[in-house]
Amino acid sequence: MHSITRHSAGTEQYLALEEKYGAHNYHPLPVVLNKGLGVHLWDIDGKKYFDFLSGYSAVNQGHCHPTIIAALLEQAQTLTLTSRAFHNDQLGPYEKFMSVYFGYDKVLPVNTGVEAVETALKLSRKWGYEKKGIAADQAKIIVCSANFHGRTLGVISYSTDPTATKNFGPFIPGFEVIPFNDLTALEKALQDKNVAAFLFEPIQGEAGVIVPDEGYYSGVRSLCSAYNVLMMADEIQSGLCRTGHLLACDAEQVRPDIVILGKALSGGVLPVSAVLADDEIMLTIKPGEHGSTYGGNPLACKVAMAALTVLKEERMAENAGRMGNIFRTELAKLQSPHISVIRGRGLLNAIVIAHAKKDAAWDLCMELMQNGLLAKPTHADKIRFAPPLLITETEIKECVQIIAKSLACLD
Ligand SMILES: Cc1ncc(COP(=O)(O)O)c(C=O)c1O
Repeated sequence: MHSITRHSAGTEQYLALEEKYGAHNYHPLPVVLNKGLGVHLWDIDGKKYFDFLSGYSAVNQGHCHPTIIAALLEQAQTLTLTSRAFHNDQLGPYEKFMSVYFGYDKVLPVNTGVEAVETALKLSRKWGYEKKGIAADQAKIIVCSANFHGRTLGVISYSTDPTATKNFGPFIPGFEVIPFNDLTALEKALQDKNVAAFLFEPIQGEAGVIVPDEGYYSGVRSLCSAYNVLMMADEIQSGLCRTGHLLACDAEQVRPDIVILGKALSGGVLPVSAVLADDEIMLTIKPGEHGSTYGGNPLACKVAMAALTVLKEERMAENAGRMGNIFRTELAKLQSPHISVIRGRGLLNAIVIAHAKKDAAWDLCMELMQNGLLAKPTHADKIRFAPPLLITETEIKECVQIIAKSLACLD
């Protein structure tokens, strides 16, 4: 039997406001947070939690990182938005910083993750027509089943999740879905000379942290090069040190043609996203052909440079790799009958719950919340565990104990 959750009167009030005045497009855990620092969050009643979601991997650097907040405050008092109708003194330095940091000729700055994915899709089609010579309106992009690249109409056009697509049609043509982690299927799909790009998540986060076989990234690289197709890696969730590498593709020293970044590019401070590519690809988009009012705003540029500096200076990739290994090892030691699978890389991890009860994963998350750890089910029976990357070994072990104690609610 698990404990019955009681909310404070204050919590009830906030839940009621969202219920009455907000669209019902999310189903959050019933906790109202008002403070974050490092790996911790606090609710309005002062209860402290470990954050094991990190804003869906946006808060890799930890909540309210002082270096990032200092950059935000300094720039917020100076200049926040010019639009791209004019230049500003942060954009050029930021673009150079991004080019050096990631090793691509150019960056195209936008705001949210899905906007960066849309940008990459448009960019790859442009390249397909103008460089590869695909006939007008025939370009095709290959994607993977169980993908998650965001919520716009363009991006859900190739989703295989019925919840994401039901009653939102008609959809945009020009996509072919193949299984993830299947090089044979990819090679077959690449036989079509109209294919401009292959878009994939190096680790499928929303699908439940699906890690492909070793050799997948290098296999994708070889095939894309052999068939003159752009390899486009959506590193929005898997990138920026989360998996123990700067980019998840670095695990196999593979360089995609287009890299898509978001989330932790600002350390969870404001929406900042980006597309990286070399000149041959990036310069196919000309003035006026793509843009965004807030894209490349000086506040975002300043914050992103601070967020990326923190990742490197605090060696967050190394820590994520090490802590991830400890986390999975300690979790396996529990030998819980309620966990059928433990998987992940670095600090992007998931467990699959084995239980007769349909809502068992939700119940466990409620119990974890009671015991001071916040995590959320993804796709019914899976729970993602992705704390900020500065978590220590002592904290990781404490969190495994919280998970062990909470699992008793499923007995
Ligand atoms: C791999 C991936 N791509 C794209 C997105 C969309 O990002 P955003 O919610 O910022 O639009 C997400 C968000 O979870 C993601 O995980």
